Amino acid sequence: MTDSLADVLDAAWRLLSDGAGDRRSPVHTPVVTSIGGDGAPDARVMVLRAADRATATLRFHTDARSPKCAALDGARVGVLAYDPAAAVQLRLAGTARVVTTGAEVDAIWATSTPFARRCYLAEAAPGTPLPAPGSGLPAWVEGRKPDEAELLPARPNFALLLVTVTAIDRLHLAQAGHRRARFAAKDGWAGAWVVP
Ligand SMILES: Cc1cc2nc3c(=O)[nH]c(=O)nc-3n(C[C@H](O)[C@H](O)[C@H](O)COP(=O)(O)O)c2cc1C
Repeated sequence: MTDSLADVLDAAWRLLSDGAGDRRSPVHTPVVTSIGGDGAPDARVMVLRAADRATATLRFHTDARSPKCAALDGARVGVLAYDPAAAVQLRLAGTARVVTTGAEVDAIWATSTPFARRCYLAEAAPGTPLPAPGSGLPAWVEGRKPDEAELLPARPNFALLLVTVTAIDRLHLAQAGHRRARFAAKDGWAGAWVVP
């Protein structure tokens, strides 16, 4: 346990960046929350692909056609993760943007596995009704790895969801006494202790 707010902030970003790189970490799959177009709260699990402290940015991947892209682009979002091993909850607030074109998206697309890219071959947008249970993928690619040429039509459906983090609320659970600290970009990330 540390009394240093700077150490707490360091540890929070380390948890995020380690979580992004570790499929077994619970921080790898945080909950991303938003307010839907109808004003109702919404939440979904997403894979955290990268966490960059220097730019205070989190990166997620998603289908550009999904309703959440329209709802999240330019909107305020929440990101929630809990790591039982560290006994740390992270509640992040930020602003989201959806990026579908440009060198960064192309480079990330190119290095994703064929199976990861196959999701974006779905014939209709996520959430489109189906007459029966199904993946939404065209029948020809069901159950097999697509090749590079077959993946070409999937590329326009791939989007980065980038979240610029504006605030972090970190709660550490401990038998001796819980500790909670809040940090905000507008305060230069100085942070402050609060009652847990
Ligand atoms: C473990 C796990 C990881 C997921 N990762 C992603 C992801 O990286 N990107 C994504 O768009 N959806 C991901 N999903 C699916 C979403 O939770 C959600 O069901 C889907 O994106 C549709 O959400 P929407 O209706 O808000 O657009 C994941 C779901 C689970 C259970």
